[in-house]
Amino acid sequence: MTDINQLSPWPLLQAHHRKLTTTALRDLFAQDAARFEKLSLRLPGMLADFSKNHITEETLGLLVSLARAAGLEKRRDAMLSGAKINATENRAVLHTALRAAADADIRVDGENVVPAVHETLKRMADFSEAVRGGAWKGHTGKDITDIVNIGIGGSSLGPQLACEALSAFHHPRLRAHYVANVEASDLAAALARVNPETTLFIVASKTFTTAETMQNANIARAWLVAHYKGDEAAVARHFVAASTNAQAVAAFGIAPENMFPFQDWVGGRYSVWSSIGLSVMLMIGAEKFGEMLAGGRDMDAHFKSAPLEKNLPVLLGLIGLWHRNFYNYPALAVIPYHASLRRLPAFLQQLDMESNGKRVMQDGKTVAVATGPIIFGEPGTDAQHSFFQWLHQSPDVVPVDFIVSAKPTDGSPAQQNMLLANCLAQSAALMAGQANTAEPHRHFTGNRPSTTFMLDALTPYTLGLLLAMYEHKVFVQGVLWCVNSFDQWGVELGKVLAKGLEPEIAGTAPASAERDSSTAGLIAHIRNQS
Ligand code: F6P
Repeated sequence: MTDINQLSPWPLLQAHHRKLTTTALRDLFAQDAARFEKLSLRLPGMLADFSKNHITEETLGLLVSLARAAGLEKRRDAMLSGAKINATENRAVLHTALRAAADADIRVDGENVVPAVHETLKRMADFSEAVRGGAWKGHTGKDITDIVNIGIGGSSLGPQLACEALSAFHHPRLRAHYVANVEASDLAAALARVNPETTLFIVASKTFTTAETMQNANIARAWLVAHYKGDEAAVARHFVAASTNAQAVAAFGIAPENMFPFQDWVGGRYSVWSSIGLSVMLMIGAEKFGEMLAGGRDMDAHFKSAPLEKNLPVLLGLIGLWHRNFYNYPALAVIPYHASLRRLPAFLQQLDMESNGKRVMQDGKTVAVATGPIIFGEPGTDAQHSFFQWLHQSPDVVPVDFIVSAKPTDGSPAQQNMLLANCLAQSAALMAGQANTAEPHRHFTGNRPSTTFMLDALTPYTLGLLLAMYEHKVFVQGVLWCVNSFDQWGVELGKVLAKGLEPEIAGTAPASAERDSSTAGLIAHIRNQS
């Protein structure tokens, strides 16, 4: 495997970087009236404006040649065709198959996986229609009013993001709740809001072994059965599962007909398109869920066939790499100007940081350059009143992704115009700055990069476009850095240690003499409280 900084375009990019940094962003705009036209891309449903980054067409040309030298097209085609590119887990990576058309043919180990995907989608649609229409009742014959999704990581973030983002399309009788944290108040707050006789729990877990999820699911199950005075038959009307682990689901007491399966070639953080998205389908209906899949599918088609020079996820991945490896920007701020995209930063945190927060290449060598950035963010305009001071005047620079829709989902035009004005003002201010030598505290350096994604409106289709765009962006960067973007071994050590610590904290096992003095001291302190 060749280090990225040994590929032939790298020194050309270094020289180009040295030259380009002598010109401020505002001067690049002043020099070229067509800059926006040249450095933005329109797709049906959205516009991406990357002109406020410190790049020129020459930069993009050089970055594209770097991508070609890294074999990006071959890796992309391998992923999309079902090759087992997740080598450390010996798995294909096929979240794209979840949104493929019914007549597509995508093979893993010689078998077309698309028919099973559509069979599950049909079962999810039938189930959703039964719940929404009232044919599916609770154990005492009442309509379902509340959906509680119990899951964590990818089994929570994607569904919660999509559910909230598409609140304008919710079924009027249904409310959704997401319980992820094993800290007791998360589940308790949801249970306090719902009636056991009208609540449907979805246990969402790819592995069905995740400790927090199983703990919360067991407590919820006991709560339900206690309400029904020990009548276990109630579980069948109030619990369903989304998982790849049929055996564990059955052992939990959920019947096979109440399990919605998916396959091991769907990574947790890429699973909102699978049965893990069942809560979303229940809330918005199968048709709208299908529109979200269509958005993802259209982005896949664009990613697969657009020339790299005009390929949105490719360009975004390369601009991100340009920021990370040539400007050494450590982070990326994600600012959705939409209150209902509140969970987008958290979703992208997992997508990007769990995928590309890696330090070794696929051949085991240490990556020669920095890899994925820290992702953080909050909705605008709220964030303007918290950390935007830092974005504008800190000595550190962090690029920003602004996400906004041109048309409001609902609400008054006055609110929408104010929102849009704020979004555009922030990116303009970051880019151009404002000189003030008399009052240094009022001086804005500018030269701070950002990209604006403008959706026509926030709909299931454009949400699908947006999420798939980010998925492929992360893939592109992973290929260039030669990391495996589809495993997450970094989360394992803590999980194993927690398992060993639990009985020591509970006092059911003696404190291990192996513990470091800090951990031992903390255990002793906890034990002294009880
Ligand atoms: O701990 C990390 C992780 O494995 C994520 O990748 C995943 O999304 C999450 O845990 C939940 O896993 P599961 O869906 O198997 O419960």
